[in-house]
Amino acid sequence: MEMLKRSLVLTAMLSLTPLALAQNTPATNEAQLTQEARMQTKAFAQALQKTLKQGIQSSGPDAAIHLCNTEAPVIAAGLSQNGWQVARTSTKIRNPDNVADAWEQQTLEDFAQRLQAGEDPMSIEATTLADGEFRYMKAIPTAPLCLTCHGAQLAPSVTAKLDELYPADQARGFNVGDLRGAFTLRKTLEQ
Ligand code: HEC
Repeated sequence: MEMLKRSLVLTAMLSLTPLALAQNTPATNEAQLTQEARMQTKAFAQALQKTLKQGIQSSGPDAAIHLCNTEAPVIAAGLSQNGWQVARTSTKIRNPDNVADAWEQQTLEDFAQRLQAGEDPMSIEATTLADGEFRYMKAIPTAPLCLTCHGAQLAPSVTAKLDELYPADQARGFNVGDLRGAFTLRKTLEQ
């Protein structure tokens, strides 16, 4: 019995060692980087959702637009650390800062096709590793709540607020289930 206990403790210690080492070493392979990117994306999505909910509950959609306008870039900047850059993009953007580059544009088109083909939006993601940089994207589907500010029929006060803040807004006219856009992350790899 005593022997068994001791060997169990030993096994536990041995199996913990590689884990502890992995946490101190910067991720270098695609599988590790993808895991890191998923965690960053989750934190970003949760922070955005919290801001949106608080905004709508406390003061209605007009104030929530203002909050998205000021807070979304702040949240993204706050999460952009440890070499990661965290953002959102779309083929139809609201904020011109979110414009897609060539890889993002191509990936968004691919995501839209995968969604159309019936793939679960929660599993639609893409990665690439090129020129010393790792990149990750994850699909963002349109949920019913999103229609308040991204749908085809907007309340007049919402339209007025959006026109004021985003004169070149393209992010309207979406339906539930459409691809709204994607999270887009990048990390420069240490040589
Ligand atoms: C209260 C209004 C409001 C609601 C509701 C809302 N959004 Fe937005 N959304 C905005 C605003 C404002 C921006 C621009 C933020 C900025 O300036 O960075 C934006 C930007 C985005 C972007 C970044 C790309 C772009 O167009 O610039 C994505 C992606 C997005 N929203 C997805 C969603 C999704 C998905 C939902 C539903 C879960 C949602 N939004 C709900 C107001 C809203």
